[in-house]
Amino acid sequence: MSPKDDPPEERVGYEVADRFGDDQELRIGGVARLGAALSPFGGERDPHPCSLVIFGVTGDLTHRKLMPALYDLACHGVLPSGTTIVGYGRQELTDDEFRTLLQQSIEDHYGADTMDGALCERILLTPRYVQGQFDDPDGYARLAAVLDELDAGGGTRGDRLFYLATPPSQFEVIVEQLGASGLARKGAFDESSARGEPVAGWTRVVVEKPFGRDLETARELNRVIAEVFDERQVYRIDHYLAKETVQNLLVLRFANGIFEPVWNRRYVDFVEITAAETLGVEHRGPYYEEAGALRDMITPHLIQLFTLVAMEPPVAFDADAVRDEKLKVLRAVRPIPHHLVSRWAVRAQYVQGVADGEAVLAYRSEERVAPDSHTETYAAVKLLVDNWRWQGVPFYLRTGKRLARRVTEIAIHFKLPPVLLFRDAAAGRGLQPNVLVLRVQPDEGFSLNIESKLPGHDVALQSVAMDYSYGMTLHELPFSAYETVLVDVMEGDMTLFTRGDQAEEAWRIVGPILDEWAGKPGREIPIYEAGGWGPETADALIAGDGHAWRRPWKDLGNDGDD
Ligand code: BG6
Repeated sequence: MSPKDDPPEERVGYEVADRFGDDQELRIGGVARLGAALSPFGGERDPHPCSLVIFGVTGDLTHRKLMPALYDLACHGVLPSGTTIVGYGRQELTDDEFRTLLQQSIEDHYGADTMDGALCERILLTPRYVQGQFDDPDGYARLAAVLDELDAGGGTRGDRLFYLATPPSQFEVIVEQLGASGLARKGAFDESSARGEPVAGWTRVVVEKPFGRDLETARELNRVIAEVFDERQVYRIDHYLAKETVQNLLVLRFANGIFEPVWNRRYVDFVEITAAETLGVEHRGPYYEEAGALRDMITPHLIQLFTLVAMEPPVAFDADAVRDEKLKVLRAVRPIPHHLVSRWAVRAQYVQGVADGEAVLAYRSEERVAPDSHTETYAAVKLLVDNWRWQGVPFYLRTGKRLARRVTEIAIHFKLPPVLLFRDAAAGRGLQPNVLVLRVQPDEGFSLNIESKLPGHDVALQSVAMDYSYGMTLHELPFSAYETVLVDVMEGDMTLFTRGDQAEEAWRIVGPILDEWAGKPGREIPIYEAGGWGPETADALIAGDGHAWRRPWKDLGNDGDD
């Protein structure tokens, strides 16, 4: 029986595992193989058709993330028919050529043989393309005419989503032109309704990361955006927040009674947030040379993960309440004194080594990277939070390219019990503190390490893990992060998006580090071997407080090297 002949109730959008898979890495969006699947949202997500205008249609993001995501949403029946993709770009393309380009992205991602032509047709049916420079008012006038035409002829009702998938250097000019051409429709809100609903068709703008290069540029970008759009129209994307396991963090904390009482300085010793990648910079040399690990990963993604771990319970699970709490905890992060930057922050760059079993080049030998580059490919930062809950508890954030494993996880290390009754029983290895590990990827799930008695006459202890891995019940996650954010934007749910003030606070936190590193354009930038766990200086950063980094191996609860 072919997948398409499956009875509808079995086509639930993701496969349910009946056993532990050997390979615990969950696929995402694999549902495209199954043809028309039912929505795992269970029909609760029902966005209205809109015109989806993409700036940067020939870029990597559209090709690798947006088009596969839109296709998979169509497969789930979530993308409403009538939604029309409108490309705006500098290249000369006809509508048909644009359509072929979009189709190619989908084929490259899912493979031509697994693609469902009819579905592809459905989302690509009538894409429109508008050629124009990003600063050309005439181009925006042509865009406006196309959008009016779509509203008049289709079911889009004036709902418009502008997706800035361009290099960040183009964000401001596009926003300004959207304003000047009247396309931004700031103020189209019904202020008399309780939620300030948009009137007569909504207009929303999605801004990709990086949001500025530092506090000053982020403020300037916010200023330009605020002149043109109402904050209720602005969706600053951080795809990490849309990852399934990251969203689960709030559920774990606030839907269970047992965690919140111990989620504070009395019981928590320290917190580690790790995003390790085995990949190098690939073909993104020019971007990465400008960014480096601190701007690329710590400021947007890891600081956002930090806020979810450290924030107070929101009064409601809605965008304002959640974002207010996140802002509060960001504001409570102690400014890093300039003279302590070298003790609280570490940077390094990889040299050649072996990653994922293959010999790999040094960063300086990567494509389009300066041979004397001082850009950091590894960064570790210590944060302290000056509030009642976290005073004195260090949060260590680290990220790096070409590390030993691809793993993103949050580890909450608890303190030892106040009285060590079983100290002798743990002789040799020492009593192990409890650790709650939230594994964001791969092997998504969580695990709590606890001390337990070894069966036998003597009282001897062992450390065991109580764990839950998504792979126990699923072979694949229903949606990729990009699918989730696209649906959220279409439905006007801002909970997962970064508010302007949060973006600025994140830059405020890393500001002293950026200043200090820029002031020492680093002849002495430390190095680490590709395929390892980063520089020794990072070990020293955490060892100075009497701690050590975990060495996360693929099994959730195991902290061994291999
Ligand atoms: C991006 C960074 O935001 O996140 C990349 O620019 C990084 O450098 C990527 O590789 C990691 O995302 P993920 O979802 O693969 O963990």
